[in-house]
Amino acid sequence: MQLEEISVPGYKRVVRFEDSTCGLRGFLSIHDTTLGPALGGTRIWHYPSDSPALEDVLRLSRAMTYKAALAELPCGGGKAVIFSHPGLQREAAFTAYGHLVESLEGQFFTGPDVGVTETDLEIMKTTTRFVAVHSDPGLGDLNQMTAQGVWYGMRACLDFTGLEKPRVVIQGLGHVGMALARILAADGFGLAVADIDALRAAEARKNFDATVIDPAIALSTDCTVLAPCALGGVIQRSNSNAIRARIICGSANNILASLEAGDDLAQRDILYAPDYLVNAGGLIRGAEFQLLKKPDSHVSIGSIYDRTMQVLTLAKHRAVSPARIADELAEARLRQGHSSGASVS
Ligand code: NAI
Repeated sequence: MQLEEISVPGYKRVVRFEDSTCGLRGFLSIHDTTLGPALGGTRIWHYPSDSPALEDVLRLSRAMTYKAALAELPCGGGKAVIFSHPGLQREAAFTAYGHLVESLEGQFFTGPDVGVTETDLEIMKTTTRFVAVHSDPGLGDLNQMTAQGVWYGMRACLDFTGLEKPRVVIQGLGHVGMALARILAADGFGLAVADIDALRAAEARKNFDATVIDPAIALSTDCTVLAPCALGGVIQRSNSNAIRARIICGSANNILASLEAGDDLAQRDILYAPDYLVNAGGLIRGAEFQLLKKPDSHVSIGSIYDRTMQVLTLAKHRAVSPARIADELAEARLRQGHSSGASVS
C-alpha cells in the first residue's frame, strides 16, 4: 500500500492511499480529535479524478467533527472515500483498506456510507478491529438509527412550524432513505420518492404506496418536507429559489453547498434542519457502542428532537439560519475541548 501524506491546514491528518495490486485508491481524512478518536464512514463513489474526491473527504470529515461535537459525543471527525472503477477488485481492496484502518491503531473508527455494503464491511472486519458491522453483537442497524434520528428532527420541525398532514419528498432511497420511508409510511405521512435507481423507487411505491417522481424534479416538487437522502451539495445559491418545500430535513451529509445557500432558505422562510444535527443517529450509536460500551442508544438518539428544537428556537430568536446556529454550538463545544486540553494524539 502506498501512502502519501497531504498537508491541509486545519486537518489533523490527510492521506492518499493506493494499492495497485487490487485497484484500491482513495483518501482518508482525520479532521479533528480534540474530543476523542475520529469516527466516520467510508464512501465508495465514481469520482472522476482526485480533486473532487479530496474535496469530498475534507468536507465530510469536517462535518463529522461538527456532528460529534453537537451531539456531545466523546469523538472527533474522520472519513474515507474510495474510487469506484471497473478495475477495483472489491474483496482484495476492502481487505487492504482494513489493514490501513488497523494501522491507525484506533485513531479512526469507520462504518457504512454511500456505496459501501455490509459485505464490504464484513471483509474489512477480517483485517481491522476499528469498523462497525451490522453483525457486531449489540450494535444494531446504524442505517436504521440514522433514519430514526432524521425522523426525530423532522418531528421537531413539524411541531415547530405547526404544519400538519405532511407530504414528504424523499430524494434517494438507499440504506437511510428507504428506512426513513418505512418510518414515515407507518406514521401515515404522504410520500413522494425519487431515486436514479428505478427499482428502488418501484419498491417504495409497492411497499409504502409512495408516488414516484422524476429525480430531476425532486428538489422543486411542492411538499411539506423535502428529505434529501442521496448525495451532498444539492442546495446551492443558484437553485435555492426553486425549492418549494416548507421544511428541509434529510440524512444527506452537506446538503447545503454553502452557508449562504442556507441564508437564502431562511430568507424565504424555508426551515432547514441542519444535516449533521438530524443525521447523527448512526454516529451516536457507533460512538456509544465503540467508545462508551453502552448497550442501547435510543434515548440519546431521541435527544435529536430536543436539540433540533433548541437550534430552531435560537435561529428564530436571532434571525439567522439554523445552519449557522448549529455551527456556532458545535464550535463552542470544540473550543471548550481545546481549552480543557482534551485531545487524542
Ligand atoms: P446509499 O448509497 O445506500 O443510498 C444513496 C441512494 O441515493 C441510492 O439509492 C442512490 O441510487 C440514490 N441517488 C444518488 N443520486 C441520486 C439523485 N441525484 N437523485 C435521487 N437519488 C439518488 O447511501 P446511504 O447510506 O443511504 O446514505 C445517504 C446519505 O445519508 C449520504 O449523503 C450519506 O453520507 C448520509 N448519511 C448516511 C448515514 C448512514 O448511516 N448510512 C449516516 C449519516 C449520513
